[in-house]
Amino acid sequence: MSLGSSLWARSAFSLSFITHNVRASPGRTSCPEPDYTAPNGLQFDVECGSHIPSANLYDDPFPGDYNNVKECIDACSLATQAPCFGVSYHISSGDCFFKNSSVSTASVTPRRNDDWNSAVANAEQLENTDTSCGYQNGTTQTTPNGEEFDIICNTDMGGHDSLVGNGGGYWPLHADSLAECMDMCSHQQLELCAAVAYNPGMEHGYGNCYPKLVKNGSRSYGGGIAKTHLAIAKPPTIDFTCRDKSTMNLMDSLVATTYCDYDRAARDLVIYHKDNMTSCVDSCAEWPSQNSTCHAVVFDSKMEKGYQNCYLKAEKGNQVVHVGFANAVLAAPQSSSSVSVSDSRSGLFSSRTRTAETGTATSTEGFVAGSTSTNSVMAISSPTISPSDAPSAASPRVKGGRSKALVRTVLGALLVSAMVLELAV
Ligand SMILES: *[C@@H]1O[C@H](CO)[C@@H](O)[C@H](O)[C@H]1NC(C)=O
Ligand SMILES: *[C@@H]1O[C@H](CO)[C@@H](O)[C@H](O)[C@H]1NC(C)=O
Ligand SMILES: *[C@@H]1O[C@H](CO)[C@@H](O)[C@H](O)[C@H]1NC(C)=O
Ligand SMILES: *[C@@H]1O[C@H](CO)[C@@H](O)[C@H](O)[C@H]1NC(C)=O
Ligand SMILES: *[C@@H]1O[C@H](CO)[C@@H](O)[C@H](O)[C@H]1NC(C)=O
Repeated sequence: MSLGSSLWARSAFSLSFITHNVRASPGRTSCPEPDYTAPNGLQFDVECGSHIPSANLYDDPFPGDYNNVKECIDACSLATQAPCFGVSYHISSGDCFFKNSSVSTASVTPRRNDDWNSAVANAEQLENTDTSCGYQNGTTQTTPNGEEFDIICNTDMGGHDSLVGNGGGYWPLHADSLAECMDMCSHQQLELCAAVAYNPGMEHGYGNCYPKLVKNGSRSYGGGIAKTHLAIAKPPTIDFTCRDKSTMNLMDSLVATTYCDYDRAARDLVIYHKDNMTSCVDSCAEWPSQNSTCHAVVFDSKMEKGYQNCYLKAEKGNQVVHVGFANAVLAAPQSSSSVSVSDSRSGLFSSRTRTAETGTATSTEGFVAGSTSTNSVMAISSPTISPSDAPSAASPRVKGGRSKALVRTVLGALLVSAMVLELAV
């Protein structure tokens, strides 16, 4: 594919300049034999100490900085210009060569060259002859978590990609159906997914589910070699007015106190979609406590960070200013407070107890919740990636690998857009 190789050539030049100056480190030789599955599910047979000299998808190494064959394989699994069927990784230079579909018949030089590691993708996963939409055009479908989507078959919408992946920092995503692609969209965190474009035939690569940031980008109907189907999300509008320090009486004699315009830096137990804050707080009170108690919720009423907008928190954590968010802390009512427990729901008594935290609840909340937020305050946190998350927040979302992958993903996207610009000139 000469177009592809000439496009990559220019950007590959400067990057290979960097990589060639890096001495091979022991990490470079690491090789996950005999097989490896990329984070998006594409499986590879790994041939350590082998080189595949032919079947190059591009003449030049794929742009990027690859510390080992695993990172090279991951990049292959996320190819967006043409499907990548395998790689050869040159250990001393860090160069990553993508292979085309001829790789399955290409000659592999095994155990001859300590300077190469190679891998071949499971080609069956890159094959899908059913490129149908799966729904009748113009219908509305609902995901398992309750979000509605309008189906527009045989239509694509270029650009406006949301690059955050499905919580893992990998983009584009892989889905086996438009339904699965919509489901991933409805679960996306960090930015609201407004639509998806789904390419069942994978003509652009194994990543075939593209979450979009807008629903009204310019669309193209039919045509082209790649059949693509669109689904436009229709998240509900939530009518919510936050009342600072208002209280809600819950089951088990619990009281929830609301704080406006603050997020909470604490580990997420689970993230749901809820149509209102009451229902979000109720789900916290009802959270089964065998493993871990729900101590607080964060409610993203504008669904700024995703359709799933109700975060159940394992600890109260510290408040972090986030205009438009609301949070509530659940606690047993304090004897010294004026909180009324005459709500009918507090009549439910149970043996469930809350640990002694009520004493500090108001004293630690008071100092931040009292200072009202202003529009000049930057929104600095989301419930899932707050830098001050407790150490126990060992969720994969906050680990370094994720941001590294994200950086690489964004870098890749920049390269792609640079090339598209070049092409347009
Ligand atoms: C794969 O690439 C090689 C060049 O490296 C080319 O000769 C061959 O035709 C390509 N195969 C396909 C299926 O595009
Ligand atoms: C599919 O449905 C959309 C939205 O209802 C409509 O705009 C479009 O023309 C339809 N396409 C076909 C091929 O019927
Ligand atoms: C698309 O929608 C956004 C708001 O969601 C609006 O700001 C923008 O002007 C719209 N663009 C077009 C081309 O209609
Ligand atoms: C809150 O949302 C739930 C479903 O999420 C709904 O059943 C309930 O009626 C709503 N309550 C109010 C007051 O709108
Ligand atoms: C509690 O932990 C057990 C075992 O780890 C698990 O099977 C169960 O799903 C957990 N329950 C909740 C509510 O997280």
